[in-house]
Amino acid sequence: MNDKKGLSRRTVLKTFGMATVATMGYGCTAIAKQGGAKPVKASRSTYKVYSSGRIGSMKLKNRFIKAATATESTNSKGRFMPEGLDIYRKWSKGGVGLIETGHMTIAPIDYNAMTHHLYQIWDDRHIPFLKELTDTVHSADPECKIVAFLNHLGNHPVLAHGQGIAASAQPWPGQKKAPKALRYSEIQDITKTFVNAAMRAKKAGFDGVTLQGGHKFLLHSFLSPQTNKRKDKYGGSLENRVRIIREIVVKIKKRVGSDFPVLIKVNSYDSGTGGNNIENFPQLAGEIAKTGVDAIELSGGVPSVPDVDDPTEQSYHAAYAKKIDVDVPVILTGGNKDIDIMERLFGSGKIDFFAMARPLIRQPDLPNLWRVNNSAPECTCISCNECLRHHVFEGNPFLSCLEE
Ligand SMILES: Cc1cc2nc3c(=O)[nH]c(=O)nc-3n(C[C@H](O)[C@H](O)[C@H](O)COP(=O)(O)O)c2cc1C
Repeated sequence: MNDKKGLSRRTVLKTFGMATVATMGYGCTAIAKQGGAKPVKASRSTYKVYSSGRIGSMKLKNRFIKAATATESTNSKGRFMPEGLDIYRKWSKGGVGLIETGHMTIAPIDYNAMTHHLYQIWDDRHIPFLKELTDTVHSADPECKIVAFLNHLGNHPVLAHGQGIAASAQPWPGQKKAPKALRYSEIQDITKTFVNAAMRAKKAGFDGVTLQGGHKFLLHSFLSPQTNKRKDKYGGSLENRVRIIREIVVKIKKRVGSDFPVLIKVNSYDSGTGGNNIENFPQLAGEIAKTGVDAIELSGGVPSVPDVDDPTEQSYHAAYAKKIDVDVPVILTGGNKDIDIMERLFGSGKIDFFAMARPLIRQPDLPNLWRVNNSAPECTCISCNECLRHHVFEGNPFLSCLEE
């Protein structure tokens, strides 16, 4: 896409109100210039990003992860439609080492709210449906792993219906309605709900789970000093704010198995003032690493930046990753589009894995293209967010890239 078309797409996206996407916490405000089909210069098959890695007990064939991507691809009972399974088959065959599913709700939700795209894992009756998903991925490539992305909506600005729930009765910046603060006993119930969902994930054949700890969902409201104003043992100090994560992780490991991998996706910074930022994120990451999680995935408050095709603007959370010193693997998410940049970042020793969402919606086989086909095009995703608007916020089925 040339600059002229790029500008017109900005206008189109403004018309669709995509500025609000940033507040929705999907990490996708970027509107980038078209990368175009540049010829690949040299073979990348020997790159270190193709070396195997480990997240807890899970051996991954390379350093590429398909980041969480919610999509309208199940029926109302939670069963994947054939077309909904197809994209997972493509991701598995396309060369990533690990697939994170889209949000899976651990609690029943109101389907009149904008939540139709959430996968369901809140009841045992969902297990056979989820097994169809894990079987699809594992049979497409037995080496490709898949983790269930466990989430509670909490007080998400867009997805929560009615009155949301959160650590405290403190709305996110810009949000008018205050959520209901969870009572102590409700926190214990929610912890159990996460553990039950992880157990179902194991029964359904998932290789592990990721906890959604960012993007303004429930667990994030505990981690951020912006929204956690509790005076009990779940608020105040860093240790207290991380406590709910620790309890969930410890209980999952106890009930589901100490070798069952538990990952967490977190905001490396929060938008607005008074939240986590580049100064205090290293301490937060350190405390989270001590909970027993097997990997920390970095996202952020306004995680996308415009024109991420520019090499200096891609992989835009790298600065946060470089600041932390944790003894669990670090996954970098957001704007990873150039394998040469990822290879350099990997070489820096601070980042262990790279997760991609939009690039793999457009080119599900990007890791294979980069590795085996020297004349293959580079990543052609323009980070326009049309996939997000069309499939997630408007609820149109079957995730795909809408660009020509
Ligand atoms: C269609 C779509 C659906 C997404 N769904 C989720 C989701 O369910 N959970 C989540 O944490 N992030 C979700 N994201 C955000 C991505 O995981 C990722 O953080 C973000 O897109 C930035 O990465 P990228 O530049 O590789 O796209 C979604 C993004 C897109 C485009």
